[in-house]
This record gives sequence, C-alpha cells and structure tokens, in this order.
Amino acid sequence: MGREGARTEGIDHAASGRDRPDADDVIDSKGIERAPGEKPDSTFSQRALGEDFAERRARAREKLDAVDPHKRAGGIEADPKRREWFEAVYALAEDDPAAVPWAHLEPRPLLEDWLAARSLVGLRALDVGCGLGDNAEALARAGAHVVAFDLVKRAVQWARERFPQSAVDYRVADLFDAPSEWRGAFDLVHELYTLQALPEPLLPDAARALAAFVAPGGTLLVISRARDNGEDLGGPPWPLARTTIESLAVDSLRLVALEDIPASGGLARHWRAEFRRGEAGG
Ligand SMILES: C[S@@+](CC[C@H](N)C(=O)[O-])C[C@H]1O[C@@H](n2cnc3c(N)ncnc32)[C@H](O)[C@@H]1O
Repeated sequence: MGREGARTEGIDHAASGRDRPDADDVIDSKGIERAPGEKPDSTFSQRALGEDFAERRARAREKLDAVDPHKRAGGIEADPKRREWFEAVYALAEDDPAAVPWAHLEPRPLLEDWLAARSLVGLRALDVGCGLGDNAEALARAGAHVVAFDLVKRAVQWARERFPQSAVDYRVADLFDAPSEWRGAFDLVHELYTLQALPEPLLPDAARALAAFVAPGGTLLVISRARDNGEDLGGPPWPLARTTIESLAVDSLRLVALEDIPASGGLARHWRAEFRRGEAGG
C-alpha cells in the first residue's frame, strides 16, 4: 500500500487535523452516539441530515431499543446474532437515514484520515457490514476495486440507490457464511463498527471470517469504539477492549499497528487497528 505509515499507539490524533466532531460514539439521551461529557454536535446533524435530525434519530432509537432483545436482561436468546434487529433497523427507517443509528451520509473520519495517507490504486478492498455505503465509496475514491456487503438486503439496495454510478460492487452476504470466492481475495479488508455491534460470543467466529478474506500480504483494518479491559460501558453497541482487538490476530494475521485514539472534539475513544498477513511462502 502506498505511503504506508508506521502508525502506532499513542498517536496525537488531534495533530492529524481530523479532530472534528463525530456523532457515532456514545449514545446520549437523544439517541445520538457521542463521547461522555461531549457537547451535542448540531453542526453535523443539521448539515448532513436536516434540522430535526436529532429528534428523528431519537424517535427511531426508542423504537429500535424497544425491539432489541439485547437491551433487555436475558433477551439474548431471542436474536443471538442480532439479525432480526438489523433487519428491523432498515425496515423501520422507511428511507430516513436519521433512523439508521450509524448513518451519517459521509465516510467516517477515522477511515478518511487513514486513507489520506495512502493510495489504494489497483488494490482489491472489501467493506464488511457496509450499511449505506459511504465508507465503501471512500475506499473506491482512494483507488480500490471495492466489494461491499451487508447482511440486510434493504441496506444494500439503499446503498445502490444512493450511488447509482458507483463502481462499488454492493452485495447481500453474511459475514459468517460469505461466498467462498472471497477467501484470500482482498488486499484490504475494512471493518468499522460491525464487530462492536455483535454479541461477544460471536467475535471469535467473526475474527476467523475477517481473517479468511485477507490475501497474502494483505491488510485487515478494524475501527471501533474502545474501552479498557474489564471496563463496562454497556451496550449494544459494545466498545471493544484491547484484548478483543488483539484476539483478532488469527490465522497468521499479525497486529502491526494499534492506535488508541482518545476522546476528543465529540469523538469517543477509538481503536484503529491494522493487521497484516505474511506474503505467500514468506
Ligand atoms: C453498526 S452498523 C455499521 C455500518 C457501517 N460499517 C457504518 O459504519 O456505517 C453494522 C452493519 O453490519 C451489518 N451486519 C450485521 N451482521 C452482519 C453479518 N453477519 N454479515 C454482514 N453484515 C452484517 C448490519 O446490517 C449493519 O449494516
């Protein structure tokens, strides 16, 4: 990958110039996700999604929480992989992106920031759990040939509708039962906020599934909210602990960079982790 930086823990994220507010961090009383103690980000919501974005998102949150068994004690067996809930998100949204809790109609800043230092020209990239497609489009703009997939058909249709001219190949697929031809097929596998939306018992299988997509010499990029080992921040979503990030290094993937990005300017604490598979025979 061009201009691949040796990024490590302790990076001064603010110095990267991408320290702008983010609404996808910790859920506040209005249903917007942001860091504890951070001010509401009206600039983002009004600019991207309309004046009453916060109210629409809050109303949607209430409905979604009401149908989420993971928000109730003992409710996990009802929807162990959260499939019905993810389906419900897109169905209940009725074409309003404010009702999709992770939708921003723009790529996530921590991905854009990472891409700014690299060229993906000619590389094959896979976006996992692509939602409405903004991150997949950013990967394509960086020069990659992108396949993007989501479990939910409506999400994939919506992404295609939003980007009718897109070169991204949007597919309906399940991370846990992906097409066999994707095995070892991607130079870059990108996952943002899907792992943290999955119940913890699924993460070992998710790790193996993600690793299986990575070609020899390829990279897995994981971006998620962060918590300390042993810290309970509630959920869903469930911010990932360092030990969980480290446990994603399976099937000959090596963790080569782990940034612990502190909460700042509306952005909650995050991990940005890069894993690499050795070259074939290397
Ligand atoms: C928290 S959202 C993040 C979406 C997107 N990455 C973003 O940041 O905007 C997680 C996404 O993963 C999808 N998803 C959940 N389980 C999945 C699975 N088993 N296979 C593929 N996609 C899945 C959901 O439908 C949802 O769109």
